[in-house]
Amino acid sequence: MHNDVKEILVNEEEIKQIVARLGSQITEDYKDKNLLLLSILKGSVVFMADLIRAIKIPCRLDFMAVSSYGNNIKSSGVVKIVKDLDIALEGYDLLIVEDILDSGKTLSYLSEILLKRNPKSLKICTFLDKPERREANICADYTGKAVPDKFVVGYGLDYDERYRNLPYIGVLKPEVYEK
Ligand code: IMP
Ligand code: MG
Repeated sequence: MHNDVKEILVNEEEIKQIVARLGSQITEDYKDKNLLLLSILKGSVVFMADLIRAIKIPCRLDFMAVSSYGNNIKSSGVVKIVKDLDIALEGYDLLIVEDILDSGKTLSYLSEILLKRNPKSLKICTFLDKPERREANICADYTGKAVPDKFVVGYGLDYDERYRNLPYIGVLKPEVYEK
């Protein structure tokens, strides 16, 4: 375990099981649809790389980058599009793939923008959910795992752009972000 990590919340074995479950649910639910997966950079790329290989129907993939004007551990809800999608959304069943649903402000703002572009449908898949922290009125259609209100890193999730490469979800020692 990494020295800055206090405890492991989701280990590699559990991550595999979660991805397999979500992949087969999505495969079933979207078999007659026109699936477009949208990865929100950068946190969701590791999850997306696994998830797309667990989906057994034709699908497309696109990316979007947003930046929130918050500090490193809390989002402000004010979101700027840094990189937009390349694909026009009309006719697609859009599935937004996120690393974590926290206050929900980022996704609530993004969904609003994306719905104006007339996708056939829009759903949300998040690897982690922190329901206790929710401020916006939003919930995911597919959730990997609900976790307690602790700052976590790994499997794509960062603190100050670090720890994304940890193969598990770990709780960061508070002294790492309090110093
Ligand atoms: P929200 O708008 O508050 O839901 O923030 C969502 C974004 O905040 C996520 O996509 C993450 O980038 C970041 N975030 C929220 N909680 C954590 C955490 O525990 N660890 C790392 N990043 C987090
Ligand atoms: Mg982040």
